[in-house]
Amino acid sequence: MEGAPSTHILKPAAAWSHSAHNEAVVVTLAHAAGLTDRAVWVEDVQGTAVLVAERYDREVCHGGITRLHQEDMCQATGLRSVDKYHIGWPSERMARLLRQFTDSPTVEIEKLLRQLAFRVVVGDEDGHGKNYSVLLNSGKVTLSPMYDSLCTLIYPELSGRMAARVGAQVSLAKVDRAALVDEAKAMGIPQREAETCLGELSSTLRTAIDALGPRLTEGWPSERVIGVIQARLDRLDSGEPLGRVSEESGQQSSTFDEATLCRGSSPSQR
Ligand SMILES: Nc1ncnc2c1ncn2[C@@H]1O[C@H](COP(=O)(O)OP(=O)(O)OP(=O)(O)O)[C@@H](O)[C@H]1O
Ligand SMILES: [Mg+2]
Repeated sequence: MEGAPSTHILKPAAAWSHSAHNEAVVVTLAHAAGLTDRAVWVEDVQGTAVLVAERYDREVCHGGITRLHQEDMCQATGLRSVDKYHIGWPSERMARLLRQFTDSPTVEIEKLLRQLAFRVVVGDEDGHGKNYSVLLNSGKVTLSPMYDSLCTLIYPELSGRMAARVGAQVSLAKVDRAALVDEAKAMGIPQREAETCLGELSSTLRTAIDALGPRLTEGWPSERVIGVIQARLDRLDSGEPLGRVSEESGQQSSTFDEATLCRGSSPSQR
């Protein structure tokens, strides 16, 4: 209000059924996996479910709120927003940027791998260049916490084609542990560290799923999202492709944004 910094982002569910609840569960799992320290929840606003997300680009000090500088990976790498689905391999652009500008590239690139692997595991096809960001605070660049993630696999109208390739794989159905390890290697992360990251992600997510409370899971078909994630975790651990053949993209190749627009809602209203 009147130029004051906002502290929360509000996203009403519009195009995709239960998207606010879906995102609340997925980002809560990201929180439990240590990928963000900000909370999310769902509010009912005059009959519309609205996702409320605490902003990570704000700092409360001396009772006031300060804006932190953030740039999404399109801005940070000089890509136009319209090219957000052409971020290329994370290893090529995002990891290179983190290597160049952060004080602790090993830590930051490993955070990037964890965010990327998380999206893969929860079945989120929309990991484009504006869904990863960096923060600039006190002259230091760091990867931002995770945001804007939901299980897109529960919407059969979507292609299941990931916004960016992981290893040699583009489909959420075919991507597997080996592809994630390949991606990690291309980012400069040795296989052993990559395996450790994936193992930790798997065990923290299993614990986090068991800890999801009724406030997040009741009143909508949350078992669909949870079932998809549990099945993908099992396959991550066994080394199989993470999805089933029935989830494989057919002829469709539209992006999440294109599919959202076709449903008559702008992506930012979703
Ligand atoms: N928790 C948060 N804290 C700070 N900034 C955020 C947070 N969540 C989102 N943002 C910022 O707001 C932008 C839009 O939010 P978000 O990605 O959730 O919406 P969207 O409509 O899904 O966008 P898109 O279609 O581009 O993915 C993000 O690119 C990011 O810069
Ligand atoms: Mg986004």
